Amino acid sequence: MDLTSKDIATARAHPNIALIKYWGNLDNELRLPANSSLSFSLGTLETQTTVQFDEQLTSDRVVIDDVPASDSASQRVCLHLDRIRRLADIKTYAYVESNSNFPSGAGIASSASAFAALTLAACSACNLEINSRALSRLARQGSGSASRSIFGGFVIWYAGKTDAESYAESIADKYHWPIVDLITIVNTSHKTVGSSEGHLLAETSPLQIIRVEDTPRRLEICQQAIMDRDFNALASIVELDSNMMHAVMMTSKPALLYWSAATIEIMKTVSRLRHEGLDICYTIDAGPNVHCICTREHAHSAHDVLKKIPGVVDILESPPGDGAVTLDR
Ligand code: DP6
Repeated sequence: MDLTSKDIATARAHPNIALIKYWGNLDNELRLPANSSLSFSLGTLETQTTVQFDEQLTSDRVVIDDVPASDSASQRVCLHLDRIRRLADIKTYAYVESNSNFPSGAGIASSASAFAALTLAACSACNLEINSRALSRLARQGSGSASRSIFGGFVIWYAGKTDAESYAESIADKYHWPIVDLITIVNTSHKTVGSSEGHLLAETSPLQIIRVEDTPRRLEICQQAIMDRDFNALASIVELDSNMMHAVMMTSKPALLYWSAATIEIMKTVSRLRHEGLDICYTIDAGPNVHCICTREHAHSAHDVLKKIPGVVDILESPPGDGAVTLDR
């Protein structure tokens, strides 16, 4: 790859953990979500993506973590580049190289950091000047949760009803509240159904309508808990929100059950630890791993207990981090 041309840019973005979850779309094409969501950026985990537009290319070339991307991953990236090419009014194909510092096999959704970094790198490489709200809307069309990864600290993605209304924004910076996500990775051999497929099933659950209708209430309680740095208030709303999303998953057609035995063991341990006085709560995405959110003071004690649970293979640790940035080469 010739890295000396001008039509090249590199961007870095972090994944995020949703405290109030996005599950199900109003519009699958535009990725307009059924409900608003709230997350914080995971500063120690990151994806770096370089995009280079090159007149010589006859198609896009995508390399992820040093190997050529699968057909389906390439196709998703190409579709996203098409959106950016349309905006920039260009037809040039691109080289895309993306690397993450967290193992893809760990089951942490990398689409948020991947599509946030891709959006920013591609827009910079073709000199498309757009503000961060427009970047968030664009990233959203690649992967819903990527709209939140454009911003740092604590972030709300407003669902909206149109493309223009559906964007994220930071509500507090990364220094506001030094909480920590202990991402507790469990050993699992079975493949799970990815988020994109899962979103399509959400409305087949009779519980989804109730979950969606109640989201503004949960979002407000969560936002207030963050503003007040009130861990007990945060813990109960975060666990309720995660449990409500998994109730929808388990009651959709076909049913989705993401938990393994170790997942449940971790959930029970987190409840016990909180009962014993630790500031800790759990939240689980579309997989068996458990995000254990705790205060910085209690992270060390929690880590010691979690690592001993049978089935736990690793624990990654992250405080709130930054939003997406371009990097000088
Ligand atoms: C359970 O953003 O990964 O992690 O838009 O299809 O890429 P796509 O889905 P994605 O969905 C995330 C689902 C979740 C909850 C959340 O992060 O809000």
